[in-house]
Formats: sequence, structure tokens, C-alpha cells
Amino acid sequence: MATATLPAMLPSVKSFVAEKRKMLVNGKWIEAVSDRTFEVFNPATGDVLAHVASGDVQDINAAVKAARAAFETGPWSRMTPSDRGKLIWKLADLIEQHLEEFAQLESLDNGKPLTVARVADVPLAIDLFRYMAGWATKIEGNTIPVSVPYAPGAKFFAYTTREPVGVVGQIIPWNFPLLMAAWKLGPALAAGCTVVLKPAEQTPLSALLLGKLICEAGFPDGVVNIVTGFGETAGAALAQHPGIDKIAFTGSTEVGKLIVEAAARDLKKVTLELGGKSPNIVFGDADLNTAIAGAANAIFFNHGQCCCAGSRLYVEQGIFDDVVNGVAEAARSIKVGEGFAPDTQMGPLVSEEQLNRVSGYLDAGFAEGAEAVCGGKRGSGTGYFVEPTVLVKTNAKMKVVQEEIFGPVVTAMPFKSAEDIAPIANDTVYGLAAGIWTSDISKAHRAAAQLRAGTVWINCYNVFDAALPFGGYKQSGWGREMGHDALENYTETKAVCIAI
Ligand code: NAI
Ligand code: MG
Repeated sequence: MATATLPAMLPSVKSFVAEKRKMLVNGKWIEAVSDRTFEVFNPATGDVLAHVASGDVQDINAAVKAARAAFETGPWSRMTPSDRGKLIWKLADLIEQHLEEFAQLESLDNGKPLTVARVADVPLAIDLFRYMAGWATKIEGNTIPVSVPYAPGAKFFAYTTREPVGVVGQIIPWNFPLLMAAWKLGPALAAGCTVVLKPAEQTPLSALLLGKLICEAGFPDGVVNIVTGFGETAGAALAQHPGIDKIAFTGSTEVGKLIVEAAARDLKKVTLELGGKSPNIVFGDADLNTAIAGAANAIFFNHGQCCCAGSRLYVEQGIFDDVVNGVAEAARSIKVGEGFAPDTQMGPLVSEEQLNRVSGYLDAGFAEGAEAVCGGKRGSGTGYFVEPTVLVKTNAKMKVVQEEIFGPVVTAMPFKSAEDIAPIANDTVYGLAAGIWTSDISKAHRAAAQLRAGTVWINCYNVFDAALPFGGYKQSGWGREMGHDALENYTETKAVCIAI
């Protein structure tokens, strides 16, 4: 890979990664109490990119204390909804002013193409904050006519208010580092909560730049605290902390279950956005070109590191070969390379661990009899590259069909008729998303109703919007991100009843 042709890192990004990165607690940038740091790697090369403070129990304790004080007694607790909304909007403006910095950091830290981070990750984060800024002034209760059958003749006036749930712990993953921080922070701040955010250890940099802008925007100290560190230490300490009212998590279903166990001790509120094994269904009457391009995008976008990736491709039998060959051809034409190269369409996986996990799934698939129409191997060089892969000769029992791979690997299987496909598509512990490709609108609606998934895309895939709720059925999670549904996660309803 010729580095000479790559765009230069902005000087501000260069110095951002060169300096040891501290954590944000109570409005101040601090080292970990232990003074420890951890290394962050550039996944395109495997080289160390930055050194970041390694938070642990004591740092989480300090952050929770700051968030509690900010929630109960600080200026945030007295701020009007309108002023909260203005601050969130201002944060969106600041992110927009630093768009290129964020895009570069995201590409360096996560490996994704710079061209994608510029048009997807960062603009979506900006839009999310603006959308949520508007909600700050619109979180309303109801007036409720009550009858109270055991108090004949008595009169009551009853209403509900929605109050912030309190201090919130938020643990996010590495696949869309900035965007996941936005999905979590936006509704929490609109609702008036205070936050301790723990970014993923693989990709903490954009959240730390966001922290700088949160301070610059003028959020009071302690409203947003950012503790960097590992899941087993900082993350576990946050999930277990008795001083937080709610924990919001995005990541693996395995860790989601640990979060629930930790939260069960004091019954803190929990929302979870977990894994998926989303079916993408192409009916015989679909527009083939659109469906093939869409099926390729469904699995290969973000290198398959999407919880909603269309990783099980089901194709009606008469067009199976055409669709599979079309998706394989699309896969072969994807330019894989380092994120900064302008022609890169797919970067490396995020980490060596993820590379090993995806390679392990490929090995397991081949051992069980799957065949690769294209790809099937890791890439050359020191970066964490995997070839875009289409697997056939797969069946419902195989590990590659049942488990989330979280890499650019799709399993393609034929199905006989529209009547058969819903139970097959639903045959998974997950229920995050699904895709349908057909030119028959009634068939599309029928299938959409039968699929047990939080999102169903029809003749499109990976369409996200701050206004559209996103989340999972079954083991894909609890609660919804984005849209006004997200505010439910961050508010308590109070019923007030007055004898009149
Ligand atoms: P993970 O679930 O371990 O990590 C996600 C976040 O949880 C990170 O911030 C991590 O530090 C934290 N964490 C890890 N262990 C924790 C614990 N015991 N207590 C509290 N927090 C903890 O995911 P990982 O290991 O990075 O990836 C493994 C698999 O998880 C992937 O192959 C993929 O299948 C799935 N995943 C799903 C994501 C989604 O968007 N739903 C995102 C990332 C991973
Ligand atoms: Mg893990």
C-alpha cells in the first residue's frame, strides 16, 4: 500500500493522537488514578496509534460522583429545557466545524474508509444531536381522567410528568465510535440526565474529541464524564455501580447478559442494543440489479461490522445462482485497503481479536462443508484485513448461519416459496433487522409483518435516520435507540393525583 498518495493527517489530528489522552471527569481532563495507560492501534497497519488513560473502579467512582452532583445540585438541574436543547444544538454545530478531524480520527482508529466516515458517521452524529436538541422542549406528560370506583363522588385531577431517570452509565462499541456516542448521549442529555460514558477500548479517540467539544459548548461540569478503559475493568465497574440509575449498553449479546446480571443487584434500569444475524430475503420478482447491489451493501458496509448486517442471504430458488454470482462479483470488485486511501471501499477489521474471530468462523464454516464463491481468506500484510466473502452450501445448523460473525461474510441459501421463508428467516436467537426485496407490495407487507425484527427494510438496506427507532426483538436487545422512543429509556413517568 503506497502511503505517498494518502491524504495528509490534519495537524490537529496529528497532535491529538500524539499526546497522551486523558479522561474527562467533572469537567477536567485527568490521568487514571492508577496512572496506567493502554495502547490504541491503527488497524490498517497494526502500529500503535495513541496512548489513552486506562480507567478502572476508582475512576468510575469519581465520574459517578461528579455525574450525581451535576444531576442533583449543579446548574444542569436548574437549566430550562430550551437551554438544554440549545447546548445540544451547539454541540452539533461544533462537531460540524470539526467534521474532517472526526472523520480522520474515526478512520485511523477504526479502520473505516475516510470517505465513508465523512459522509456517514459524522453527519449522522450531527443530525442525531440536532434531532434530540429539538426533543428537549417536547418531553410531555398527559392529563388523565380518573374514575376511582371506591371513592364515589370524590373528584381528582391527575396528570403525568416525565422526569430524567438520573445518572446514566453508557457503554459503547467500536464499530461506529462517534455515532454510538451520539445515539447514547443525545437522548440522555435531551431528557436532562447526566452521564458516565465508557467508549470501547479499541476506539476511544473520537469520544475524547467529542468530550473537548462538550466542554467548549458549555455543558456544566459533570454532566458528561468520559472514562476510557477496558470492558472487564471500567465497563464492569460502571455496570455494577450502585450510584447510577440506569445502564445503556451496545455490544455483544454475551456482555449484554453480564450487564443484566450486574444491574440485577440493585435493579437499575437497563437498555441493550446487541447482536444480530439479520435475514435478507430476495424474492423471485425483485429487481435483480437493485437487490444484488443492496444485498452486497447489506453485508459489506462497514466491513460487516454492523449489528444489523444482512448476514443471512435467502434467495428464491429460481434466481439463486444469478443473485449469488452478482453479490460475489460485487464482493470481488470491492477495493480493500487502508482507510485513508481515497479509493478504499473497505478497510481492515477493527482489531487483531476481531480478525481472529472472523477467521475462526470461516474455518468453522469450511469444516462444516460451506464453500466460498469468493473471498474466504484473510488479506495480506500486517493490517487486520479479511476478504469480502460469500459462502454457499450452508444450512441452518451451521455455526456460520447461527452466530454473529461481525465481518464481511454472508451465507447464501435458496428458499422455495414466499410461504416458507418467514419461519426460516426467524430461526435465530436474534431479531434486530431484516431485508426484503420484491416488486409485489402486498408480499412485502405480508413478509414485514411476519418477521420478528426491530427494523424491516424493503427494497433498501442500512437506511438510518435520527427519527427512526432502532433496536431488537429477542436476544438483540431491550429498548430502542433514536426516534422519540429513545426518550423512553431516559425518563421516568410520575403520576400526580390531586383531590379537588
Ligand atoms: P463487547 O461486547 O465485549 O464490547 C462492547 C463494549 O462493552 C466495549 O465498550 C467493551 O469495553 C465493553 N465491555 C466488554 N466487557 C464488558 C463487561 N464485562 N462489562 C461491561 N462492559 C464490558 O464486544 P467485542 O468483544 O468488542 O466484540 C465481540 C462481538 O460482539 C463482535 O464480534 C460482535 O459479534 C459483537 N458486537 C456487537 C456490536 C453491536 O453493535 N451490537 C458492537 C460490537 C461488537
Ligand atoms: Mg468483548
